[in-house]
Amino acid sequence: MTQTTRAPINTADAAHTLEWLRRFQRVRSASETLCAPLETEDYMVQSMADVSPPKWHLAHVSWFFEAFILTPYLKDYQTPDPAYDFLFNSYYETHGTPFPRHLRGTISRPTVKQVYQFRAHIDQEMERLLSAPPPEHLDEIIDRLEIGLHHEQQHQELLVMDIRHILSCNPLHPVYRDDIRQTLLANAEQAPTAHDDNAPVDNDPVNNEPRWHRYAAGVRQIGADYPTESAFDHDGQGFVFDSETPRHRQYVAEFELADRPVTNAEFIKFIEDGGYSRTELWLSDGWHLIHQTGWQAPEYWQRVDGRWHTMSLGGLVPVDLNAPVCHVSFYEADAYARWAGARLPTEAEWETAAEDQPTDGHFVEDEVLQPQASAGARRQGPQQLYGDVWEWTGSAFLPYPGFTPLEGSLGEYNGKFMSGQMVLRGGCCATPGDHIRASYRNFFPPQARWAFSGIRLARDI
Ligand code: AVJ
Ligand code: FE
Repeated sequence: MTQTTRAPINTADAAHTLEWLRRFQRVRSASETLCAPLETEDYMVQSMADVSPPKWHLAHVSWFFEAFILTPYLKDYQTPDPAYDFLFNSYYETHGTPFPRHLRGTISRPTVKQVYQFRAHIDQEMERLLSAPPPEHLDEIIDRLEIGLHHEQQHQELLVMDIRHILSCNPLHPVYRDDIRQTLLANAEQAPTAHDDNAPVDNDPVNNEPRWHRYAAGVRQIGADYPTESAFDHDGQGFVFDSETPRHRQYVAEFELADRPVTNAEFIKFIEDGGYSRTELWLSDGWHLIHQTGWQAPEYWQRVDGRWHTMSLGGLVPVDLNAPVCHVSFYEADAYARWAGARLPTEAEWETAAEDQPTDGHFVEDEVLQPQASAGARRQGPQQLYGDVWEWTGSAFLPYPGFTPLEGSLGEYNGKFMSGQMVLRGGCCATPGDHIRASYRNFFPPQARWAFSGIRLARDI
């Protein structure tokens, strides 16, 4: 059953345009706040091909507004530098030839200062456009502005991921924010170490089994349709990416879902049980990958004096045993699930469970930037589906039946990545809280570990 697959219609009027401008300013300044703790030298590092220098992120999200809104719709718009249109084009081949991704860290000019000037220029020109928008293009401008803001929010999460990776490569263990360090040190000390007999049962990382929630079999509706009115009539909740559309029926068999993500304590049990050397637990591609890479633990983990530590945004800190395990690949998540006698949920199962849940959890606004055990959440239930860690599903990132990408260059946003990637659900501690929803489909290649990716178990009945 195919429903609307056209672009969203935003019947914006002048009053709403001012609200959009305010929202634009809020999202724009959040990106700069995330970068405020950086030193100038940090802005240019590309620590691996998947990572982009923070400077590039700040410029690229600005270019997005230039390329898709200001150049087409603002009369007399002038770019500070025509070269930006190719330097900061990520992958829009129908727009122009993008600069090679793996070389982003070699670009010392424009300088950090010039990139901030580019941002200020874009902010100023967007304000000029939204103060007197051409009425015949207003709906299209607001549609693109809304995508541009969700795009910048995605890059805010990528900034957090990339800053962590960049700093983690430095043997001096730099600390991004000392308040984060203090929080994580306190969390790690609070969590009882393994085999602490005095630990209260609900706070015992070793013996605290997940609870299983049961879901009946049935034909479910998953995915979303484009809203038909301005997002401001929906509390800003109306937006969906094209890849979430169209809403459609799918049969889901009876299943159970754990009430919380897998914890660090549980993952350590997997490691200590020889999880990484038991071939029967692994998909073939994963087995080869862990031998190629030498992976024996999640990304960022290292042992210090016999205790697992992680290189966090608060520097090197002991692993919090009660917190959700994070920075595992799809292959590690899948192997863990098999070891635990379970499996990963499908995205339809995950969405069935999430649809009537509030989108509460630890998000970027908590400013910890590390998954945390939520006090009591694992026992108060019903479930802790959102925030902390993105949850790998067993579903490939494929088009839903009837999917049509957006028209024009923005059709390249998601649709062309629908091969070789797996879906993750629920958002994480680096996701803006108003950026997530039940139908949201994140995706990464199965070997990726630098996203805040964790594990939730499902099982058949
Ligand atoms: C959905 C996180 C895989 O990183 O390319 C950013 C998000 N899309 N700019 C990515 C995105 C366009 C996307 N991921
Ligand atoms: Fe982008």
